[in-house]
Amino acid sequence: MSLFLGIDVSTTGAKALLIDQEGEVVSSATTPLALSTPRPLWSEQNPQDWWAAVATSIRQALARSGISGASVSAIGLTGQMHGLVLLDENEEVLRPAILWNDQRCGDECDEIREALGRERMIQITGNEALTGFTAPKIVWVKNHEPEIFARARHVLLPKDYIRFKLTGGLAMDKADGSGTMLFDLKRRDWSAEVLDALGIPAEWMPPTYEGPQVTGEVSSQAAEATGLRAGTAVVAGGGDQAAQAVGVGAVRPGIVALTLGTSGVVFASTESSLIEPEGRLHAFCHALPGRWHLMGVMLSAAGSLQWHRDTLAPQSSFDELVDEAAEVPPGSEGLIFLPYLTGERTPHPDPLARGAWVGLTLRHRRGHLTRAVLEGVAFGLKDGFDLIRGAGLGAIEQVRVSGGGARSRLWRQILADVLGVELVTVNTTEGAAYGAAILAGVGRKAWTDVDTACASMIKTMNPVSPASIRESPYRELHEKYRAIYPALKPVFDGLASLEG
Ligand code: XUL
Repeated sequence: MSLFLGIDVSTTGAKALLIDQEGEVVSSATTPLALSTPRPLWSEQNPQDWWAAVATSIRQALARSGISGASVSAIGLTGQMHGLVLLDENEEVLRPAILWNDQRCGDECDEIREALGRERMIQITGNEALTGFTAPKIVWVKNHEPEIFARARHVLLPKDYIRFKLTGGLAMDKADGSGTMLFDLKRRDWSAEVLDALGIPAEWMPPTYEGPQVTGEVSSQAAEATGLRAGTAVVAGGGDQAAQAVGVGAVRPGIVALTLGTSGVVFASTESSLIEPEGRLHAFCHALPGRWHLMGVMLSAAGSLQWHRDTLAPQSSFDELVDEAAEVPPGSEGLIFLPYLTGERTPHPDPLARGAWVGLTLRHRRGHLTRAVLEGVAFGLKDGFDLIRGAGLGAIEQVRVSGGGARSRLWRQILADVLGVELVTVNTTEGAAYGAAILAGVGRKAWTDVDTACASMIKTMNPVSPASIRESPYRELHEKYRAIYPALKPVFDGLASLEG
């Protein structure tokens, strides 16, 4: 028996997923991970904790499958993107990893824009300088922790630290590499010009590989820690968004993937290194050779609903809350929610943006608040979707929605109505880990390429059609929603400076 193992180091847990050659899930296990916020705006985790959690999950997934580690023929890696892992000359971790949702490096983003020139920066990297990305985090360490910077010798991303622990080798995939902002997007490799302008030594950056390429083999030490066979191939894999897209079959132009996870993502594959000239969409390499993608990211999607429940209705289940929301008419009787609970990226790259309910009256009940959250998240995703639609990609044939929030029929209907398109779900619900396992299988030639693998295993289902434009109040409400952020922006800035 030949199995493929996908490993996903997300912000909340380390998942190990085993699939067989037909793409059937054999077993999986997830070990939770904690987040540390030692100061406002900071978000960190210890790479050593990732490795301990991954090793536990691999052992558990193998035990649950009842199959020996020797049956795993390849491993694919994925994980939270952009997080900075710094190693010293002995390949020891120098400081806690600074994560994708850390917002400390606004000043360093300005510094990068100035060093490269904004236009040139977007031309090379495809992207605006954002606090989420890796380059400003490295510059932050240079500015604020010079003693750490002086000892740094290697830069890795979260899943590549796991690769290092599994194989002993330093390597990265091109999808995640392009998320550092240190990549020449078109050439799919490190940009000497960007590294030089930011004072980051080129030799700190590992070699990069296409998603299905083999990057190394499991070492005997790692075999002992995980129960895998020494010598098992480890393929490059991809950052979680690219791997998630592989996992739902969004690998060619025309198929757009919408993810309703903690964050919300609109993802479209491209056949060239297309960029959004203002940098309002992220432009990265895809996890398969010769493809790129554009992506809009909202930071609190299902995360907004989670916050709403935890804060205002901790005794209620999500289903109870959503049932109440279903009783409320579309538009929540004039109540609008702004979902910028952790700042925002698309379409407002602003770490200081905040959430709000606007339009509250005595009439509004909890069901209205909940429905407004579902609708506000859909409006935010529409902002990203509209940018993608305007980016010159060609026709959108299908929109595939996945992630925890997509389990709600009501939320899918609201999304279809707000976007004005039909939505479908897919039969594969294991997300990025599934995509990573597919990349492992392709690396082992179980399928000729990623397109063939996706076409043979991923099926669409549950179509939801949008309400006719005449029936839907959402077009007008979206315009109102769009007007709120610019109006409140000075208030958000003022609140941030009050907080210090
Ligand atoms: C993508 C991004 C997030 C993280 C979280 O740009 O920042 O999706 O990868 O997992």
